[in-house]
Amino acid sequence: MAEIRLDNIRKTFGKVVAVQDISLTVPDGEFIVLLGPSGCGKTTLLRCIAGLEQVDHGRVFIGGRDVTGLAPRSRDIAMVFQSYAVFPHMTVFDNIAFGLHMQKQPSAEIKRRVQAAAGLLQIETLLDRYPAQLSGGQRQRVAVARALVMEPAVLLLDEPLSNLDAKLRLRMRTELKRLHKMVEYTIVYVTHDQVEAMSLADRMAVMNQGVLIQEGAPLEIYNRPQNVFVAGFIGSPPINFLKARLMEKDGDLFVATQDFALQLPPDRAARARESARSNDVVLGIRPQDVHELARVGWTEGDNRIRATVDVIEPLGDAVVVTVVTGEGSLQITLPADTRAQVDQPLELVVDVNRVHLFDPQTEEAIF
Ligand SMILES: Nc1ncnc2c1ncn2[C@@H]1O[C@H](COP(=O)(O)OP(=O)(O)O)[C@@H](O)[C@H]1O
Ligand SMILES: [Mg+2]
Repeated sequence: MAEIRLDNIRKTFGKVVAVQDISLTVPDGEFIVLLGPSGCGKTTLLRCIAGLEQVDHGRVFIGGRDVTGLAPRSRDIAMVFQSYAVFPHMTVFDNIAFGLHMQKQPSAEIKRRVQAAAGLLQIETLLDRYPAQLSGGQRQRVAVARALVMEPAVLLLDEPLSNLDAKLRLRMRTELKRLHKMVEYTIVYVTHDQVEAMSLADRMAVMNQGVLIQEGAPLEIYNRPQNVFVAGFIGSPPINFLKARLMEKDGDLFVATQDFALQLPPDRAARARESARSNDVVLGIRPQDVHELARVGWTEGDNRIRATVDVIEPLGDAVVVTVVTGEGSLQITLPADTRAQVDQPLELVVDVNRVHLFDPQTEEAIF
């Protein structure tokens, strides 16, 4: 097991800056997820950690050792690629044992390690089969087992679940989390799927265009996104962004869109007065932070929205409702037994303690 420390890593391909001066420390035993849209540099950063790419500048430390100039095999890492290839002409046992054979480990040791890894991944009954006789999920587990038998200090996983169907992906997600609890390796896991990232990560590092934007525990990032990009990337359905203005009235501070005004609670009003550089702001409201007035029975009138229901999408345990609020519209999530009906009016209440404000120029969060 080992800590990973990235110090100012840059990697360019010609004119493309794939990784732009990223510094990141992953404590020993942590499950960290690199999250970001396709092309933001996740795989490149992982390959820099693995030693499969030479960095332009910066240092990579694994377990306190500067491995920047070392070949992949000297870094004490194992990596599972997005397109995990298993050897079709080898049995599952031989596939898993491959790296250990290359290391010329004694056969008793190989057997012990293969059996331990196969046990962890619940494929011990499949060791005599060939890959063609396995399901996608089983093959995927063989790929992870092949990495685990190397007993690396660090396990690097690049979108390992992306080739699986939705149901299997959910199951493997749970199994990976359980596996991490047992082996306690330091794991760096790459995905563009924010739900997968939220559910797996001890900590997430959100990237965009080669830049590390924000790192933190999943809920910390969900609750306090640092800028418009992070707020919009994390959460489902996505957060609603609305053009708004800050307005003082009788000592209270309101944030007003073209259709409605929300009164900010005193602590948030103080922060907005202190940090907002102008009265123009971007208001962010998550679909989960809007409630039906009839259900919550609010008494104060200042953070209500009068809306008309446009579209209702049932999800089973909840419904996604698109409402028209006048000029604009909002997507909100309501319980499945909502009284909302298409084309009917709906009175809503916004939880003003959970809304977000952003600077429209810098896109940085005010709160
Ligand atoms: N070997 C390469 N040669 C040239 N450009 C590359 C190479 N690998 C990656 N890139 C570019 O670097 C950027 C980041 O790619 P990548 O790390 O694969 O992103 P992600 O894994 O987040 O989808 C992209 O613009 C991609 O086209
Ligand atoms: Mg990638």
